[in-house]
Amino acid sequence: MAKTKSVFNCHECGYKTYKWAGYCPVCKGDTLIEEQVIAAGKSPRFSGEGGELTLLEQIPSLEQERLNTGIKELNRVLGGGVVPGSVVLVGGDPGIGKSTLLLQAALGLVAEGLQVIYVTGEESLAQLKMRAARLGLSGESLFVLADTEYSRIESKIKDCHPQVVIIDSIQTVMKSELGGIPGSVIQIREVTASLVQMAKKKQITFFIIGHVTKEGVLAGPRILEHMVDCVLNFEGDRYQTFRILRATKNRFGSTSESGIFTMEAGGLMEVQNPSALFLSERPSSSPGSAVTPVMEGNRPLLVEIQGLVSPSYSGGIPRRTATGLDINRASMLIAVLEKRVGLPLTSCDIFINVVGGVRIMEPAVDLAVALALASSYRDRPLKAGTMFVGEVGLTGEVRPVGRLEGRLQEGQKMGYDCCLLPRGNIRSLLKKEMEIVPVSSLAEALDLSLD
Ligand code: TYD
Ligand code: MG
Repeated sequence: MAKTKSVFNCHECGYKTYKWAGYCPVCKGDTLIEEQVIAAGKSPRFSGEGGELTLLEQIPSLEQERLNTGIKELNRVLGGGVVPGSVVLVGGDPGIGKSTLLLQAALGLVAEGLQVIYVTGEESLAQLKMRAARLGLSGESLFVLADTEYSRIESKIKDCHPQVVIIDSIQTVMKSELGGIPGSVIQIREVTASLVQMAKKKQITFFIIGHVTKEGVLAGPRILEHMVDCVLNFEGDRYQTFRILRATKNRFGSTSESGIFTMEAGGLMEVQNPSALFLSERPSSSPGSAVTPVMEGNRPLLVEIQGLVSPSYSGGIPRRTATGLDINRASMLIAVLEKRVGLPLTSCDIFINVVGGVRIMEPAVDLAVALALASSYRDRPLKAGTMFVGEVGLTGEVRPVGRLEGRLQEGQKMGYDCCLLPRGNIRSLLKKEMEIVPVSSLAEALDLSLD
């Protein structure tokens, strides 16, 4: 019998040691997990193309050969379609729609005349058939395989010569000769390494689905992300229909593209006009609501920010919650409103919500957040037909933001005819799409924006 020995893997960074160390010396955390490996069994690694010296100009370009998934938003996030022989990791919370997205993509690729295998370790074939029926797609020529043993999956792939293989999910596939349980660090790493090798040798594209842990990182070691060509994250609020696909790594395109979908009864639908989706339920002229143009990757998008300020009766520390925004940024804005604008918010409960389940990271949204709160506090609506954009600094100044022209165009498209924006942006603004109200400070913005 083959000898096994213990190895300690860090489930955060992939650090490996054969001696128990108590904690991971790289992440300094209690993240080491013991696993058993077969002492002699060396895992295959992608060894390049035989190490031949090749002139760069002689290597055929892959650019023209991109495959069409039939889903425009997915093609765009990938940089214009799927590159043959690439390995794409698709991560996201359970239930967010990863299997749905990739089944739709599989059927789209089949419709293009490509040979595709969908390997499922999570569902039975009957369940997969039901899902396809729900999507209204028959996908007669899609090969499906319900298996979790790597060697069997590999031999089926080698027999069938597909152009694309979907693995749903990496956490369920295992190499039984390595021992351990499916989804363990070593299993995920070894299976992925073998898939990458197969992809490069046989020019097969792999889509690998990976679940995300509670902390929001892809389960399994970070090195999984290093091994693959693209990492896509599928995000959204499970209780809302809106979904967004972002590339966090892309060896064949930019990472600033994003794909926007809604999850409907008939599967994922591409959203042509996301601003309309986010503003559709917007109550007109109610206090505590501000519209702001944010950049979602390269695309401007209008979203509604809602703020609610109400006296706190709990007697303890007032409640502060922010959904879709960083709570630390929100606390900073509350402090600026208090100190620089003079709003006494200390004893108020404050709630902030970005409508529609969008998560906003950019500071250009500051002005809209601060004004939504001030509008709720004063119980007066903000000016109708107006949007607000600007970063707010600690002294209450309104600082310039980037890509203003695109933001204004999107506003104009959606019927907004006025925009409050940072004075510092005025000089660089060539075309004025609508009425512009420049402001230098939050106090000035508040004076000019309440109805
Ligand atoms: P799923 O693709 O199974 O998520 P994941 O693979 O990321 O775990 O999608 C799960 C949810 O999507 C499920 O709760 C039901 C919903 N759904 C729809 O709303 N419409 C559909 O057509 C399909 C197939 C699923
Ligand atoms: Mg799934």
